[in-house]
Amino acid sequence: MTATIILGIESSCDDTCAAVLKDGIVLSSVIAGQSVHEAYGGVVPELASRAHQQNIVPVVSEAIKRACIDIRDISAVAFTKGPGLSGSLLVGISFAKGFAIANNIPMLEVNHLQAHLLANFIQEVGVTSKHPKFPFLSLLVSGGNSQLIVVRDYLKMEIIGRTIDDAAGEAFDKCAKVMGLPYPGGPVIDKLAKTGNSERFIFSKPRVPDLDYSFSGLKTSFLYFLRDELKARPNFITENLNDLAASLQKCIIDILMAKLVKASVQTGINQIAIGGGVSANSALQEAVHRQAQQSGWEVFIPRIGFSVDNAAMVAVTGYYKYLAGEFCGLEVTPHTS
Ligand code: KG4
Repeated sequence: MTATIILGIESSCDDTCAAVLKDGIVLSSVIAGQSVHEAYGGVVPELASRAHQQNIVPVVSEAIKRACIDIRDISAVAFTKGPGLSGSLLVGISFAKGFAIANNIPMLEVNHLQAHLLANFIQEVGVTSKHPKFPFLSLLVSGGNSQLIVVRDYLKMEIIGRTIDDAAGEAFDKCAKVMGLPYPGGPVIDKLAKTGNSERFIFSKPRVPDLDYSFSGLKTSFLYFLRDELKARPNFITENLNDLAASLQKCIIDILMAKLVKASVQTGINQIAIGGGVSANSALQEAVHRQAQQSGWEVFIPRIGFSVDNAAMVAVTGYYKYLAGEFCGLEVTPHTS
């Protein structure tokens, strides 16, 4: 039987990614970040799409080279259709169309969020990994999303909670910006928080019904709090940087955990997965593992290279769509939301 080889392409935001998957096992995964945005404190969409244009061919070539496969053996090309930035998505989609036509292979459109969830099923050569059983509950937290999702099968899932405004990663990044920290602020806050007192400052938590999240109020109250403190003490931020980072981080993690626990109780599901860039946060991981001991959860967190934006998760989602015969046509266009 011939192997099923999927080329995955991810270009929804500011990382140009390509990966090769053979019969469900990752052979290569290449991620090219875009440092151009650092100077602006956030992703600039026009600059992101231009950088994708420059990166896409070398990134795909590198992924194919590292996988040690012949381009003619690729069975299908999977790409992120959305959600994401229109211009960024367009680069990946257009490349996938050209690649599919040139190699006479089918295309598989992939939802970025679904791909983050299926990152829990990525297998690597020589690595024994455990995978969640269906149904599992996933907390998906990134720069653009904060969602609680029940995953019933590889291609069947239901969103049971979502942010009504900003995402958790945005809260990290925007508050970091207010403190004069570089972008992306999440990893910087995580590092600073390690030697800070998380009980020092208390920030108010949103009152949002059901399983939904809200982070815009926290961002605004953090901004006003700093503005008031700075009036009396101009060095307030530098003098309290670690405590501010730790207290802010604790507040964000408490908000995320409260709804995750509520969702687990409501659904009766104790297979818990976390994904998206914010899932790399050390305090969030500790909180989830602590709760797991208390509530009897089994926890799944893809390793860092597969929890941030990557194409291996797109390829693995494409693989399950390939097996289900869910192909798409050349008329496909980006889906930004
Ligand atoms: O999934 P991801 O790589 O891509 C986008 O959503 O674009 O997530 C990026 C987000 C950023 O907001 C970043 O600040 C956050 O993930 N992030 C973290 C950490 N590492 C990345 N937030 C908190 N702690 C971290 N260690």
